[in-house]
Amino acid sequence: MKAIILAGGNGRRLGDLTIQLNKHILPVYSKPMIFYPIEMFVGAGITDIMIILGGNSVGPLTELIGDGAKLGASVTYRYQYKADGIAGALKLARDFIGEDRFLVCLGDNVFFDSSQIVLDMIAEAPQDNFVPTAILATCPTDRPQSFGVPTLGPNNEILKITEKPHSPDSNLAITGLYCYDKYIWSVIDSLEPSARLELEISDANNAYIKNGSVKHISCKKPWRDCGDIDALLDCANMVRNLKNASK
Ligand code: DAU
Repeated sequence: MKAIILAGGNGRRLGDLTIQLNKHILPVYSKPMIFYPIEMFVGAGITDIMIILGGNSVGPLTELIGDGAKLGASVTYRYQYKADGIAGALKLARDFIGEDRFLVCLGDNVFFDSSQIVLDMIAEAPQDNFVPTAILATCPTDRPQSFGVPTLGPNNEILKITEKPHSPDSNLAITGLYCYDKYIWSVIDSLEPSARLELEISDANNAYIKNGSVKHISCKKPWRDCGDIDALLDCANMVRNLKNASK
């Protein structure tokens, strides 16, 4: 299986930190942010990775990662000229993926489950591809308004996903780790830009809910989106505490 890591976007919520640097190169305690998703995939045996880059300052990031060999991966890159959303970024990797099932991780997401969550997702994937099936990772959060939030049915199934809801239906976040099949490409082609002019990944996931099946698995350990200053600091402190505890 192949994987895509998204490292485009503008990183505006990180203010001056991202004027000269791509967000995904910023440190999360002892490592650049993007090392976390790369190491998560490599630990699960997924080494063929495409990174989607964007913004002004991607040179240091490609210099840091290179061909990925030092991290045990084989990394290729594609450049997203316009930050037109997560689904827009994914579209650029279509020829890299082909018809196969694949994984996606947002480059600012850190999963404390690490490779285990990836292995859990792969285990949920159907063997055939007759019915469009997406697999999403969810995690409890104390600020659901910042994320895609599922509305759950009586059997814990996802009925719909609302992006950054004012009145969230649950305290669960749809994290930035997704597993898709070949149906995602026609779903993305059918998406219309949202009010913020992005092709939203939540719209793609809602299309799966309508036309196929969406499974979700819950993270067993914490997860953080490092897209703003407080979350970045919080995540770095969590990594430090974990490292100190294991000494
Ligand atoms: O972190 C999980 C959340 O990520 C989900 O709960 C939301 O449903 C999902 O929309 C997303 O929300 P964010 O507001 O956090 O997305 P953000 O714009 O910060 O982008 C997330 C990552 O995707 C970031 O690492 C940059 C990358 N990206 C983003 C855009 C808009 C791209 O590569 N290209 C883009 O055009």
